[in-house]
Amino acid sequence: MGTDVSNTSIATAYRLWAPVYDLVFGEVFKSARRAGIAAAEAVGGSILEVGIGTGISLPFYSKSTRLVGVDISEPMLRKAQIRVTEMGYANVEGLAVMDASKMAFADNSFDVIVAQLVVTTVPDPEGTLDEFMRLLKPGGEIVLISRVGADSGPRRIVEQALTPITRRIGWRLEFPWSRYERWVARRNDVTVMEHLPMAPFGHFSLIRFGKREPDAVAHEIRAA
Ligand SMILES: C[S@@+](CC[C@H](N)C(=O)[O-])C[C@H]1O[C@@H](n2cnc3c(N)ncnc32)[C@H](O)[C@@H]1O
Repeated sequence: MGTDVSNTSIATAYRLWAPVYDLVFGEVFKSARRAGIAAAEAVGGSILEVGIGTGISLPFYSKSTRLVGVDISEPMLRKAQIRVTEMGYANVEGLAVMDASKMAFADNSFDVIVAQLVVTTVPDPEGTLDEFMRLLKPGGEIVLISRVGADSGPRRIVEQALTPITRRIGWRLEFPWSRYERWVARRNDVTVMEHLPMAPFGHFSLIRFGKREPDAVAHEIRAA
């Protein structure tokens, strides 16, 4: 699982998307992005936005929210840097090129990890979510806006058939909720806080995972 896209193919795809990304994907995901940032700010504290891209979500943050942004695509991030400079977003403490699956931050560094339209693009979604958990302080939250594919039926068949095409242009179409459920089940420190289908089309969701203290029972089972 997870070897169907590579960081090289993603970097190539988003180098091509960078000049037109905001035009194509700006308006259509505006309300979802706004909801994601509101959910992140409700937790408060320091925020890491992973896959920040062109910085298209930056206008939705309050000027007092401290955040750091990372992305694997230098051309996308260059657009974000221009936005920060032109708009004077002093709350953005840094932007850096990094791979979401192994980021150069210490454990328990952030109160919130935001990733909007990112989990279905990375080569190893579950490994990337594990990395988010590593960086998150206990009590913190992962806030995703993400496409949730169908678990069964005709929509699943169509999504599976089209995914070889869509992954060449930067994302997987096929990504059922059961994949998140399996990831949560294999950990002992994640709580599903929210899974709210959103516009456009209800095929995207606001998803919030909380980081709690590791479950003592699971520890005992593992130790036995
Ligand atoms: C669909 S765009 C989403 C951009 C932005 N978050 C938004 O709301 O529109 C996906 C972004 O994730 C970035 N990305 C893909 N794989 C990544 C990885 N392994 N590490 C960091 N960023 C990655 C891409 O470069 C791109 O900027």
